[in-house]
Amino acid sequence: METPNLDWGNLPFGYVKADYNVRCTYKDGKWGEIEVSDSEYVPLHIAASCLHYGQESFEGLKAFRGPDGKVRVFRMDENAKRFIRSAEGISMQPMPVELFEEMVRKVVKLNERFIPPYESGASLYIRPLEIGTSPKIGVSPSEEYMVIMLVTPVGPYFKAGFRPTKVCLSRDYDRVAPKGTGSIKIGGNYAASLNAGQKAHDLGYAVMLYLDPKEKAYLDECGAANFYGIKGNTYVTPASETILPSITNKSLRQLARDMGMEVEERHIPYEELSEFDEVGNCGTAAVCTPIGQIDDIDNGRTFSFDMNEAGPVTTKLYNKLRGIQYGTEPDTHNWCEVIEFDR
Ligand code: PLP
Ligand code: COI
Repeated sequence: METPNLDWGNLPFGYVKADYNVRCTYKDGKWGEIEVSDSEYVPLHIAASCLHYGQESFEGLKAFRGPDGKVRVFRMDENAKRFIRSAEGISMQPMPVELFEEMVRKVVKLNERFIPPYESGASLYIRPLEIGTSPKIGVSPSEEYMVIMLVTPVGPYFKAGFRPTKVCLSRDYDRVAPKGTGSIKIGGNYAASLNAGQKAHDLGYAVMLYLDPKEKAYLDECGAANFYGIKGNTYVTPASETILPSITNKSLRQLARDMGMEVEERHIPYEELSEFDEVGNCGTAAVCTPIGQIDDIDNGRTFSFDMNEAGPVTTKLYNKLRGIQYGTEPDTHNWCEVIEFDR
């Protein structure tokens, strides 16, 4: 097996062509066999519902190569369940958990040579997506669907890696509507966030921190990640209908409890930003990344944290989570599945 000529230690969070992707179609009321493809393209009808009416959802999860040589996939059952919720949220056919997991195992095995070496600190990002493929001009759900899983080796989501980032906050942008699709992972939410993200980048910030779209009073989603704050011995994160229930956040809450911390999931008023010892954002891509400064660009107010290095709690949580993912810390909650390669 030839190793790809990649600079493993300096991979960005981006797309690299791997060897294969896997696909499965839903047709005539049932899911078909898993198909393997080496093409980066999908044949689509020009009137496919995904192209016109946004019937598209996706997931993001990772496989890690440990120092013991084993490859672990993190909490794929959780991604499978969220994939079902996303499908149901936009009237698509949900894929059964077992089939989702089978596709993940298959795509990881088929692309073994693209799983980064342990020392690089990189991982294999797995991107499942579902699209409605039936031709539709009237606005109605597709009858046929395709699930595709592709993989790409990735480095850190934020250029600086595990270093404090600067984020901005503005009331001029909403990612989603109050009773909308914020709690599911559909492409449309990300399209709706692009202008805000671009605005943040243009001003020199990593991402936009949103306030809740209804009252503009509480902290909500943080770019494409969840927000958390540390106050003394307490881990606080927003309870909100408009954020995506992050699997990373769920894991960090458990790790925080394991460390004897209190965990609060509740509304976080904007003013409380000045009371946190540490703040950060978390997600599969972001892991947990410290935030060093939050600028409210509507009124010039700044909330300052440590811009030099990650705080002690964020560091502890980060090390624990990464340790479990790479197999250097005991996986006491059985979060990882070790992939068995057929030799
Ligand atoms: N929020 C948004 C909008 C996201 O895109 C993601 C990434 O998946 C997350 C939160 C974090 O979720 P997870 O930890 O499950 O990756
Ligand atoms: C993830 O963390 O998996 C995400 O989906 C974030 C972003 C790359 C969309």
